[in-house]
Amino acid sequence: MIDHEGDSDRINIAIDGPAGAGKSTVARKVAEQLGYVYIDTGAMYRAVTLSAQRAGVTVEQLPKLAQLARSLIIELEPSEQGQSIFINGENVTSLIRSREVTLQVSHFAANETVREVLGTMQRNLAERKGVVMDGRDIGSHVLPNAELKIFLTASVQERALRRFREIADSQAITLEQLEKEIADRDYLDEQRDISPLICASDAVVLDSTSMTIDEVIEAIVKLSRTKLAEAK
Ligand code: DC
Repeated sequence: MIDHEGDSDRINIAIDGPAGAGKSTVARKVAEQLGYVYIDTGAMYRAVTLSAQRAGVTVEQLPKLAQLARSLIIELEPSEQGQSIFINGENVTSLIRSREVTLQVSHFAANETVREVLGTMQRNLAERKGVVMDGRDIGSHVLPNAELKIFLTASVQERALRRFREIADSQAITLEQLEKEIADRDYLDEQRDISPLICASDAVVLDSTSMTIDEVIEAIVKLSRTKLAEAK
């Protein structure tokens, strides 16, 4: 069932799953192939975390954190690397990937007001359809009516190895450390009270442990074409 007249040529695609499952690469390429807009919601949580760290606001300082989250203008723009993110006009694309932000982001993402503010922004971005949104709670909470929901996962070992290959040159960290950090982050994301990482009951589960990125992309594009045909 399509909500708005004239939207039947586009659907919304939600891609959820744990850290390092390949969601952002896959979501970006799927969006590219379909001519859709890619939205990296993890980057939005990272942006709030960076801003809080800069302002010296901790997760415990609830009113201050809520005020900060509400005051931020977060913008996403397509770029050669995938997506650039701006906070109040400043390009923070690289800064939000630092280890300091990565180690703290799950704690800030567990805050109710932060989730409420970012969830509203995300729903607004998806209103006109034609988005591929990746995150943890997109299919289950943010866009429960998304026409296609994917839960993309892979073993912890494989996810740590992929991250290690990406960052080993720039950040001093061992594979074992990464494996532990990813497992800890999974735990926090799955156990939090508000919108935890969960596989929506109507999501298609793709385990990418022994799939190539191209195979995953192809599978999702194929599923989206089927959903599009059904929506017409
Ligand atoms: O995908 P990522 O590693 O950039 O996500 C950063 C953090 O944000 C991660 O700990 C989970 C959290 N997150 C979330 O809670 N909900 C989302 N929709 C996206 C990310």
